[in-house]
Amino acid sequence: MAATICTKKFLLNSGFYMPAVGLGTWQGQVGSTAATEMRDTIVYALKQGYRHIDTAAVYGVEEIVGDAIRMSGVPRSEIFLVTKLHSTHHHKVEQAFKASLARLGLDYIDLYLMHWPQSLTEDGKHTDTPTPAETWLAMEALKKKYPDQVRSLGVSNFSQKTMDELLKVATIIPASNQIEVHPMLPQHELIKYLQEKGINVTCYSPLGQYNSPILKHPSILALAEKHGVAAGQVILAWEVAKDLAVIPKSTNLKRIVENITYPTLDTEDIRVLDQFYKGPGLHRRLCQINGGTPTGHDIVMGWTYEQLGWEPYTIE
Ligand code: A2P
Repeated sequence: MAATICTKKFLLNSGFYMPAVGLGTWQGQVGSTAATEMRDTIVYALKQGYRHIDTAAVYGVEEIVGDAIRMSGVPRSEIFLVTKLHSTHHHKVEQAFKASLARLGLDYIDLYLMHWPQSLTEDGKHTDTPTPAETWLAMEALKKKYPDQVRSLGVSNFSQKTMDELLKVATIIPASNQIEVHPMLPQHELIKYLQEKGINVTCYSPLGQYNSPILKHPSILALAEKHGVAAGQVILAWEVAKDLAVIPKSTNLKRIVENITYPTLDTEDIRVLDQFYKGPGLHRRLCQINGGTPTGHDIVMGWTYEQLGWEPYTIE
């Protein structure tokens, strides 16, 4: 069967539905994409059937996202909007949330994520407080105070280690954990752990970020040829088939459509993609901030991989 537009949705533990495919809005660095280009991209994506937009306070584009939603003509009630609390604001969750709402110019957020477990001071220095558990309790208090403005709560960049710590105190189980996932970092164990707890997983950098080596690999190109689609479509189809949400970012109109249009993969295709990381040199992070550079690094936002509970840079 030809590739078809993906309309799959996941029921979150908060009772709300999240469309499986979202549009990412991280530009690589704040201000790198012209505001009008980003806004037009989001409007185009919404017109093509996207109903999930992922942004964050630190991306610096919340105003643009809000404008694009209003300009698209798509009713707000049909759109699932995710934004994130930045690490420099863990000590003032309510203020940061209200600032995001104001920048977006919207009445509510569908999913509010703690962007990283670690706290930073307002000038970006590492600090031990609040702890991730303390920040989570402040997010729970926000949800209880403003239940209509914040529909679901979740986290991002949490490992099993940091999630276990959070769950010791949580009275609301996170609805989602947004983590780096692609065929070179399939995160099989962490995903199994989260899905068993009823926590949705959203894959960021689902294609492997800018200039992804995965998209050029012969075994991925062979799968794409088999299905008569582009390499990126096979990878995203694999992630969604595993009940993972994906948030590919693209400003290219052709790729925006491709990124929500998938072939139906068979069990052998899924097996090939599941095992892809076992090839020589094919198991590593690709997201730059996470150490996904040729030489790597293991300090991310002031924490070591050990503190984060992440596996080492290269996992052979
Ligand atoms: P572009 O905006 O020119 O499409 P990720 O979301 O994994 O971080 O990846 C974002 C990067 O991947 C961007 O550089 C984007 O470039 C590129 N990209 C997005 N979709 C595709 C695709 N289907 N095929 C190839 N590259 C893609």
